[in-house]
Amino acid sequence: MNYQTQFVKIKNLPPADSFLSCSESAYLQTLRAEKRKGDWLGGRFALKVLLARQSGLLPVCSLPTEGEENQKIEMSAAALAVLKQKDIVKLPSGAPQVFIGSVPDARSISISHSNGWAVAAVSAPQTMLGIDLEKIEKRSRVWAEEFFLDEEKGPATDEHLTKVWTQKEAVVKLLGRGLSLNTREIILVDNEVRLTGRALEVWQSLQSPHIVLNSNRFDNDFIFTTAFAVAPTAVKFAKI
Ligand SMILES: CC(C)(COP(=O)(O)OP(=O)(O)OC[C@H]1O[C@@H](n2cnc3c(N)ncnc32)[C@H](O)[C@@H]1OP(=O)(O)O)[C@@H](O)C(=O)NCCC(=O)NCCS
Repeated sequence: MNYQTQFVKIKNLPPADSFLSCSESAYLQTLRAEKRKGDWLGGRFALKVLLARQSGLLPVCSLPTEGEENQKIEMSAAALAVLKQKDIVKLPSGAPQVFIGSVPDARSISISHSNGWAVAAVSAPQTMLGIDLEKIEKRSRVWAEEFFLDEEKGPATDEHLTKVWTQKEAVVKLLGRGLSLNTREIILVDNEVRLTGRALEVWQSLQSPHIVLNSNRFDNDFIFTTAFAVAPTAVKFAKI
């Protein structure tokens, strides 16, 4: 699939002022909680590293290979200076958008963070992307009842429920609406997406893109899912 991803360890980030734009530095000042600051910075750094790789400022690679996960990503002063010119702005929906000056970058992007990791993904213009990273944790039956249809629960293991949850979050990000959509209207069975209700309407308003999901284990106990729309053609859906 035509997208690239970058994971970063939040504890290994370079100083914020070495890679943030002026407006990003100003926004950082408005964040109070240390965890939120780290997550927010991690997502920006991961995305800027990816943009640097795409511009040839860093070698291309994707998932960290074994043993590399905890290494710092070294960047030259020249590369960091280029990254400071890119603004990752939060749109009113919460979705991130890259600007270079006042010009929006046409590439599609997505960000996620979880338990000390941040990850970003970029795909070509006129594609749609949503990603989600979650740690496999104990999932209560009450939680599963609230957010899942019976047909989605499968073996109901923590790993399975976490995987389906990442798929729901990746899809709501791809659709650009986040959790303003009802996750029960995004139905995931065997890695296939079925949409109903408002989620279906949003998807149709985006010309019904064909959504492809890719879920993998990451760093032993995480699930990472990418939702990628390859073309505006019909997918399976049902209106209820
Ligand atoms: C998006 C959402 C599903 C993320 O879930 P999560 O598992 O808690 O968090 P993740 O770490 O996986 O993802 C967070 C990232 O999703 C992205 N995101 C937020 N809203 C998004 C949207 N509508 N569409 C696409 N991506 C979105 C952001 O990049 C965010 O990271 P950042 O704020 O540091 O840039 C959920 O938190 C949500 O709907 N948030 C919207 C909040 C918001 O700002 N709403 C504004 C309108 S009221």
